[in-house]
Amino acid sequence: MQAKVALITTALLLLTQYTSCARLKSSLKQIDSTKLDATINSISTKQQCLDSLSHIFYSETLNGDDPMSVFSAYVNDFCTKQPLEVPNAVKASTCFYSGYFILKYMISKRSNPDNIETLKIDFCSKYTDSLPKRTDFVKTLKVKANDEDFDNVCIDQLQTQSGLNYWFDPIDPMVSISQQEICDLHKKLFNSLQKKGVTSLAEYVSFSYLITLDLYLNANQQEDYESCINTKVVQDPENHCTAYIKDHLIFSLWNSTERVASCQDASRAVTQTCNGEMGCDGCAVELAHVYQGYQNFINDIYSQMFQKYESAIFTSLDSENKKQEEYRIGMPDKV
Ligand SMILES: *[C@@H]1O[C@H](CO)[C@@H](O)[C@H](O)[C@H]1NC(C)=O
Repeated sequence: MQAKVALITTALLLLTQYTSCARLKSSLKQIDSTKLDATINSISTKQQCLDSLSHIFYSETLNGDDPMSVFSAYVNDFCTKQPLEVPNAVKASTCFYSGYFILKYMISKRSNPDNIETLKIDFCSKYTDSLPKRTDFVKTLKVKANDEDFDNVCIDQLQTQSGLNYWFDPIDPMVSISQQEICDLHKKLFNSLQKKGVTSLAEYVSFSYLITLDLYLNANQQEDYESCINTKVVQDPENHCTAYIKDHLIFSLWNSTERVASCQDASRAVTQTCNGEMGCDGCAVELAHVYQGYQNFINDIYSQMFQKYESAIFTSLDSENKKQEEYRIGMPDKV
């Protein structure tokens, strides 16, 4: 890639400095200009991506206590403005889902700027190809909800479409979740959407993202339960929860106030249910409250963002319609 950049930079320099040189002109003619355009475009898209991400994810924002504004900068200022090959109405959910993961990974690497840089470079070289992959997956399987070969096609997609499972837009986000589970889940989902008479691809995709996020949170809740020490929870619910949640990456969208509030709620429930009884399953009570609260929080911001984005795209359509109307009004009547 670097060699290519250097080559093109040289070519451009030569082009601007010596355009009067006839020999050079004739040799440049031999360069396939559409190929050159495509290369220049992709390099400049990548550079713009890196520049944009550098204004969103950096030490101050990643170490600060306002994750939602970082997340929303990614979704609203960057992602939804990208020329992604997905239908308009799908963009919001694609951006929301990738935003959750990119923020989580950025925060996990925040102590090392080099690692942040590596993530950005990786993201920027892949996102235009990879982000539309989920939509393609859903489009392929949407029509097969009742077919016998659903499983085969689904597994085949998961195994051959590598962009479906990159770290910033994973369809199978946990090692503990099997491909068969992903396929079963989508089959059930598409079946029930079909029964409800839902036909829009955008809704299928948006539900596909929601159930994967749900699956991801559930799998993490189970892992946390496995490593939870019940006596510690029952003895001192609030301190246990506070220590547990403090730097937990799953809850990356929550600031410190929201984490504290969630723990107050969870530890109140543990105290009420267990009352210091060691035989009581304090871990289950605590985790159920924390995760349920987080899921509600995510559902709320998801629907808010979705509505905001939908109304923005329809405003844009509306204003085009008005322009057309004005244009027509301005035209002399053809009788
Ligand atoms: C955390 O987020 C809540 C709600 O979004 C907000 O009201 C609160 O001020 C934030 N707290 C901090 C410390 O930023």
